[in-house]
Amino acid sequence: MSTTSLWEQTLTFFPLFCRALAEECRPGATVAVIGASDGKFVLPLAEAGYNVIAIEKDPLALYGGEVLLPVSGLGYAPGLIERLKDADLQHRVRIVAEDFLDSDPADVVADAVWTSCSWHYSANHRRPLVEFIARMQQLVHPGGVFGAEFMMPVDKRHHEIEHYTTPDVLISYFGDAWDVLLTLQTDPFLERAHVGQLHDHTHRMGVLIAKRHPDDHAKGGPSHDEA
Ligand SMILES: C[S@@+](CC[C@H](N)C(=O)[O-])C[C@H]1O[C@@H](n2cnc3c(N)ncnc32)[C@H](O)[C@@H]1O
Repeated sequence: MSTTSLWEQTLTFFPLFCRALAEECRPGATVAVIGASDGKFVLPLAEAGYNVIAIEKDPLALYGGEVLLPVSGLGYAPGLIERLKDADLQHRVRIVAEDFLDSDPADVVADAVWTSCSWHYSANHRRPLVEFIARMQQLVHPGGVFGAEFMMPVDKRHHEIEHYTTPDVLISYFGDAWDVLLTLQTDPFLERAHVGQLHDHTHRMGVLIAKRHPDDHAKGGPSHDEA
């Protein structure tokens, strides 16, 4: 890869998702990445031979432009489109440049779905968290894999917003159609300054990886009871 993601240094459980992908999905399967940003996960997935659907609503993340960085200050950062082109991977990636909550559910189907710290963005607070999760679940084929890493509450403010969640709460959204393969969570940890957060700060993160039953041909999302 010839360029580096702005998010390269942030903590991730992505290798655990890749392991589940390799175990549960065929080589060359289609993986949807929700909140694809500048491609920290899209490029390695495409490079590994997966077909990727990258859903991202931020024009700066897609097309690149000026960003404020902690040490170097204002500078140009390439977006997802340029990074894919530089790595000659554009043929493996379909970009959906829209808000995932407004996307047509019939338009995206995949063998697996991954998101990294996207649903806590304030623009998503207008809809219940369960809607974001149900949309992710619904796009996964039977037998496919769901993976999400997410921000857990740290500050008092976070405890008032359901989009800062915990593995225990998330598990309750996965009904009979799913096997939850793994949940993990960190203690609070120091994350170094990065784009969007120009000072060192405290995070707490969780991850959930689940598999949709191969014989589940219903819609896949949580029922109203589970929600
Ligand atoms: C924290 S950043 C991603 C950082 C992560 N480490 C990575 O590179 O994947 C989360 C991304 O999700 C995107 N996002 C959040 N909510 C979204 C939504 N409803 N639809 C599409 N993109 C969304 C944001 O624009 C942002 O680019």
